[in-house]
Amino acid sequence: MNDTTTPESSSRPENDMQQLLCDRLLDPTQPISERFRALFSLRNLKGPVPRNALVHATRDSSNLLAHEAAFALGQMQDTEAVPALEEVLSDLSLHPIVRHEAAEALGAIGLESNVPLLKDRLALDPAQEVRETCELALKRIEDVKTAGSALGLSMEEKSPFLSVDPAAPIAYSSVDKLREVLLDEEERMYERYAALFALRNHGGCEAVSAIIESLGSKSALLKHEVAYVLGQLQNKAACAALCNVLRDANENAMVRHEAAEALGSIAVHVGKPSDDQSVALLEEFAKDPEPIVSQSCEVALSMLEYERSGKSFEYLFQKAPLACNDF
Ligand SMILES: [Fe+2]
Ligand SMILES: [Fe+2]
Repeated sequence: MNDTTTPESSSRPENDMQQLLCDRLLDPTQPISERFRALFSLRNLKGPVPRNALVHATRDSSNLLAHEAAFALGQMQDTEAVPALEEVLSDLSLHPIVRHEAAEALGAIGLESNVPLLKDRLALDPAQEVRETCELALKRIEDVKTAGSALGLSMEEKSPFLSVDPAAPIAYSSVDKLREVLLDEEERMYERYAALFALRNHGGCEAVSAIIESLGSKSALLKHEVAYVLGQLQNKAACAALCNVLRDANENAMVRHEAAEALGSIAVHVGKPSDDQSVALLEEFAKDPEPIVSQSCEVALSMLEYERSGKSFEYLFQKAPLACNDF
């Protein structure tokens, strides 16, 4: 063997790269899209350095970046991040979108020890979307426990879309029945989420149109998850409805944010020219007075540009070894 690489020499460039990614994530002078590129790369790594940088980012003055960092910590299911997420959830000086993502992350990590805090926030958080997320997280933790003890199964498995979902999909029932549950304003939020994920996993025109229909629901929390799911599905049938959500200045910023990102992800999939309208809209709303919305459009447009030029938005998937001047 000619390979003379020692463990030390192979880990050093890796550590340098991790550090560069952390610096980029936390540098407020960088464009938001560059900071997102760093975040999307760090979420694929493990260990204290990426974790601490992401924890730090949950306190960023960009609410968009802060909420994405909390979301990433939940998707990584790293129990070491729990104390920081508990603090974020309890800190009412933070934007509701950030507290929401912290609650969702605690649900995704699934520790029973978080039940008292989630119950407390369910009763006391002033924002409805945060209270509803606490309700979902509590039910998820209960389900993880039941599934683990009764069936010996793990709910920790990722969905076919590689996300750790806030609810397990309802075991198969007809698209009509699932649609009914999803659209029922009297139904519990967890059941509506479970129907949404079952429809997503089922796929097909009827399921997709039921999902699009649910963008007319009352709950901002449900609508933001619906928009996120439509982004996962990358079905262009959803474009018109998502455009309407993005245009609606009275809609909750969390919902408009997910609509913008979903439009970007559908545009990546569809390609020119059918997505021109979405791209024009993203360009228009990149100037929205609400930073959560304008920054979402900026990130979506940047991702689209990378995809179209055949490059990866995430640094870590670039083929050549990273040189410092790539940053
Ligand atoms: Fe969310
Ligand atoms: Fe989000």
